[in-house]
Amino acid sequence: MSNSEQTLSIIKPDAVERNLIEEIKNIFISNNFNIFKEKKIQISKAEAEEFYKVHQSKPFYNDLCEYLSSGPIYVMILEKENAVIENRKLMGSTNPKEAEEGTIRKKYGLSIDKNSVHGSDSVDNAIIEIDFFFK
Ligand code: CDP
Ligand code: MG
Repeated sequence: MSNSEQTLSIIKPDAVERNLIEEIKNIFISNNFNIFKEKKIQISKAEAEEFYKVHQSKPFYNDLCEYLSSGPIYVMILEKENAVIENRKLMGSTNPKEAEEGTIRKKYGLSIDKNSVHGSDSVDNAIIEIDFFFK
C-alpha cells in the first residue's frame, strides 16, 4: 500500500448511541478502507473545543463541542489511496438533507449537527487530527 494515505474518521455520539458502529465500519471496509487503528472513547468539552478550534468563531461552536463530548465516540485511522477525499465523498455533505444518495450522512444523519460522522478535510488536518487522538 505504497500510495496509501491516512485520514481520521469519527463515528459521532448520535450514531454510537444508535449502535451503528459495526454498520458504519462495514461501509468503510466494503469501500476498501483499511482500519489501521480504532478506539471507543469519550472526550471532555475542553478536548472537543481543542479538536474543533477552527470553528471557534462560528455560532454553532459551543453546541458542537457540547455535542461531541456528550457521549462515547468511535475514532478510527482509515487508510486508502486518497483516503482524505475518498472518505469525504463517502460521508456526503455536512447537512444530511443535502447529502448524496449512498453516502453515510444520507443514510444515517439526523440533522446538520447530528450528522453521524466526522472526516478530516485535508491531508494536513488529517495528520493533526490523528495525532490528537492517537499520539
Ligand atoms: O463535518 P464537516 O467537515 O462536513 O463540516 P464543518 O463545516 O467542518 O462543521 C463541523 C461540524 O459542525 C459539522 O459536521 C456539524 O456537526 C457541525 N455544524 C453545525 O452544527 N451547524 C452548522 N451550520 C455547520 C456545522
Ligand atoms: Mg470539517
